[in-house]
Amino acid sequence: MRPRRLLGAAAAATLAAALWWRKNPSACPYGQRFWVEAPHPIITRERLRAVLRPQPGERLLEIGVGTGYYSLDLAEWVAPEGRLELFDLQQEFLDHVMRAAAERGLANLAPTRGDATRLPFEDASVDAVVLTAVLGEIPDGAAALREVRRVLKPGGRLVVGELFGDPHFTTRASLERMGAAAGLQLAERSGNWFGFFARLTPQ
Ligand SMILES: C[S@@+](CC[C@H](N)C(=O)[O-])C[C@H]1O[C@@H](n2cnc3c(N)ncnc32)[C@H](O)[C@@H]1O
Repeated sequence: MRPRRLLGAAAAATLAAALWWRKNPSACPYGQRFWVEAPHPIITRERLRAVLRPQPGERLLEIGVGTGYYSLDLAEWVAPEGRLELFDLQQEFLDHVMRAAAERGLANLAPTRGDATRLPFEDASVDAVVLTAVLGEIPDGAAALREVRRVLKPGGRLVVGELFGDPHFTTRASLERMGAAAGLQLAERSGNWFGFFARLTPQ
């Protein structure tokens, strides 16, 4: 096959795969973790900190931790009394982050395996929830947001991060709609069309 045709076929196959992924939400397998280990432009750790406004002593919940791109910083921002709950569908990701935390000498992280649509945490028990590049992987994202609303304390925050190019990218409009249906309203947005963090608060 000629190089141009080959390139065209590869581009078409990539597009078809991306469209299939969008229509079929599923968790990124641990074997493909190189995707989440890559730099996260626009949705940087500094931008997350500015939107989340973590305070020492808070109890944070990170859903969909991946290889912990944000986790160790989140744990440090609330240390020493604060705690980070790590929550993920896949044990391998939780183990990966806990190993990295031990290497950095952090002890205020606690891993729990489960599905975001059934959070094993009490009502109004968490100060803030972080969901980055995760919402679109959850087949029933609306149910996950209802669960987030349930576990948030009054005045708590949910920060959602999304990056264009992720086949499971959730648009700002769709996030606002889903959030409103779950009783969460948009309070602040940071970023641009290619990537953003949004802070939502209980209505
Ligand atoms: C694309 S990775 C994002 C990781 C990390 N937040 C980041 O930005 O680098 C998505 C993560 O969400 C987890 N995940 C997907 N569906 C989930 C669900 N229903 N409940 C809990 N975790 C889920 C996956 O196992 C994976 O660790």
